[in-house]
Amino acid sequence: MAGTLEGKVALVSGSGRGIGRQIALKLASEGARVVVNDLDDAPGNETAAEIKAMGGEAIACNGDVTKEGFAERFVAAGIDSWGGLDIIVNNAGYTWDNVIQKMTDEQWYAILDVHLTAPFRIMRAAQRFIREAARREAEEGREVFRKVVNISSTSGVFGNAGQANYSTAKAGIQGLTRAMAKEWGRYKVNVNAVAFGLIMTRLTEAPAHGGASIDISGREIPVGVRPEVLQTAEKMIPLGRGGRPEEAAGSVYLFCIPESNYVTGQTLVVSGGRP
Ligand SMILES: NC(=O)c1ccc[n+]([C@@H]2O[C@H](COP(=O)([O-])OP(=O)(O)OC[C@H]3O[C@@H](n4cnc5c(N)ncnc54)[C@H](O)[C@@H]3O)[C@@H](O)[C@H]2O)c1
Repeated sequence: MAGTLEGKVALVSGSGRGIGRQIALKLASEGARVVVNDLDDAPGNETAAEIKAMGGEAIACNGDVTKEGFAERFVAAGIDSWGGLDIIVNNAGYTWDNVIQKMTDEQWYAILDVHLTAPFRIMRAAQRFIREAARREAEEGREVFRKVVNISSTSGVFGNAGQANYSTAKAGIQGLTRAMAKEWGRYKVNVNAVAFGLIMTRLTEAPAHGGASIDISGREIPVGVRPEVLQTAEKMIPLGRGGRPEEAAGSVYLFCIPESNYVTGQTLVVSGGRP
């Protein structure tokens, strides 16, 4: 497909639903060839099919981003299919909240694994290809920019009660972003983060009929926010409402386009103006 990202190869983790799905659709609509991923086969395959139905190119590489060997498989999927790797969006994740005295080690490590260790491994797996591509391009006298966008949260930037694990992981991803912007500047990779406030997905929707849950290795983890907490949060947003997944995806897209080639190591807060 023609567009700003024509021919680019993009990996988007957790793109079967919510924000990740909209990121995959947006990048594809601008011409990127997308490796979709989700924990569950059905939503991952659906997003890939949706992209193909609109005339784009996509494949699904489903599976849990925290599993051993996943990062290598994800990176290889784009290279094997289209011979490239231009954009990585580390988006997959969920919340598993509790106050600190009730938070188990399992809860702590599960959230650090998915939001911080998985992006670290995916970038590590991509290094060899990126280094070699950048070397060839430099020899040819070409400057080709690649993009990493890591998804953070206002909970990581400002902290949030009941989310010691998630706030820590989402703050950590900002550190990883800044370190990699310095480490990979020599390869012309822009590494940035987007920290979302309230975006209306199943992670933040008021749980209806007992609430949505996510199945992690056979364990049902409830997600969603109580209606009264949601209403209070929305009142504090200067723009007057939670964001839509398409709006969230738009901010990620800004970090994927050539106009942002000289922006790196930054965190963009996308929260409707709420600090
Ligand atoms: N919705 C918000 O208000 C909000 C705010 C700040 C940050 N975020 C972040 O945005 C990202 C996307 O969240 P969302 O709101 O779209 O949630 P969502 O639940 O709608 O979508 C997330 C997707 O990631 C997948 N996923 C979860 N764990 C995975 C794993 N281990 N391996 C592969 N896929 C996995 C889920 O199956 C799901 O399809 C997350 O990193 C989240 O922390 C969301």
